[in-house]
Amino acid sequence: MAASVLSDEPYRQLIAGEWVEAHTNARFPVTNPATDAQLTEVPDGGAADAQAAIEAAVAALPGWAATPAPQRAGVLRRVAALMLEQQERLATIMTLEQGKPLAEARGEIAYAASFFSWFAGEAERIYGQTIPASVANKRLLLLRQPVGVVALITPWNFPSAMLARKLAAALAAGCTTICKPAEQTPLSALELGRIVGQAGAPAGVVNIVTCNDPQPFADTIFADARVRKVSFTGSTEVGKLLIRHSAETVKRVSLELGGNAPFLIFDDADLDAAVAGAISSKFRNAGQTCVCANRIFVQRGIYAQFAERFAAQVRNLRVGNGLEPGVHVGPLIDSAAMAKVQQHVGEAAANGAHVMVGGSAAAQGGLFWTPTVLTDVDAGMLVAREETFGPVAPLIPFEHEEDGLRMANATNYGLAAYFYTRDVSRVFRVAEGLEYGIIGANDALPSTAQAPFGGVKQSGMGREGGPQGIDEYLDVKYVSLGLA
Ligand code: SIN
Repeated sequence: MAASVLSDEPYRQLIAGEWVEAHTNARFPVTNPATDAQLTEVPDGGAADAQAAIEAAVAALPGWAATPAPQRAGVLRRVAALMLEQQERLATIMTLEQGKPLAEARGEIAYAASFFSWFAGEAERIYGQTIPASVANKRLLLLRQPVGVVALITPWNFPSAMLARKLAAALAAGCTTICKPAEQTPLSALELGRIVGQAGAPAGVVNIVTCNDPQPFADTIFADARVRKVSFTGSTEVGKLLIRHSAETVKRVSLELGGNAPFLIFDDADLDAAVAGAISSKFRNAGQTCVCANRIFVQRGIYAQFAERFAAQVRNLRVGNGLEPGVHVGPLIDSAAMAKVQQHVGEAAANGAHVMVGGSAAAQGGLFWTPTVLTDVDAGMLVAREETFGPVAPLIPFEHEEDGLRMANATNYGLAAYFYTRDVSRVFRVAEGLEYGIIGANDALPSTAQAPFGGVKQSGMGREGGPQGIDEYLDVKYVSLGLA
């Protein structure tokens, strides 16, 4: 039944409003990480396809930028409505290509749609400004205008929401776009491209290039001065490369990069809430989120109690194919992800960590890993220093508030951090002391379309979503008007 949700037509790239093969006619397979079965194929686009997409986006820019904001907002609202109408099919496609449990995929479609609703409202509120001048015969005006043609490069872990968070803001601002989804999960992006067309976006406003090797695409995009901005979500390593490439044509870049999120539980916390929060933060999408708890710091006085209660719930998590009812944890995305999890758990165990739950590949074989709890972890272990991106929870003790804060901040990353406490003064002290862009205070799931998402330090630059999200796609133009 599940495979029948895929399009009857072969999946193709979207360029200038047409569904097209790659210039070379090459295609590459899309596989289901739960079964390793091939789902379908998509075009293997390259430099010529990226170039065609740039030409289409350049041609469509004047018309879209000049389209009155309420009309652009109307398109975005129709996208949101169509996504919700087709939620079940889109969610099933996402689970097939990405592996996450169907309930999470349904949630992601709603989350993705919410960016189109939010930015529809923002499109209608792109206000300018007037500034009082220092002389009587001048008027100083600020206009906010679309950046122009933008490239949006998105990851496999949230194939619909990460594209929506960029695309909705870009379209609201009046930009035209060239989208490149991750090679593991191109189908959700192509389905979104179809919906954007149904919603009335003119040809060339949204172009989608699928490619197995991102390099020729990236080289073409970065070399072309008409592409004014690149927004990327992915690893810090690739983000640094993109910053270097952007120097050539001085492009704006927004980067949502890796994290190493601390999750602190103070001894005055509501323990039930902290356990539930840690489970959802850590095991959502099998731990494959940039904001998931990577290091769980527990204050010494409640460490043993927390570990027992947390472990008991982790033992009840069901691993399996995300299409099966009752599954909490799906497969990892690929064998490289499995190898990294194996390495992190192995290194921790070899250095004295205690494997309280799991610790090995799951009985299903393939890309399934048993949800794992490690105790007696110290901050020097790989599992605490690097982002594991898998269902592994290392529990690290800390003594007092300053100690917890110091350990939480001892990383080059600064995307998301969480803490649980009932002390309102501590809420402010810790929220202000954490060097992160997103803080969940007694809240394990802070992401929402209405709030800015993004990091500090080596977790990136720029914000997506919230009132700040649209600024990433707008230039400020200053007009000084001399009066006669
Ligand atoms: C991410 O992990 O990259 C995004 C997760 C979110 O939006 O909550």
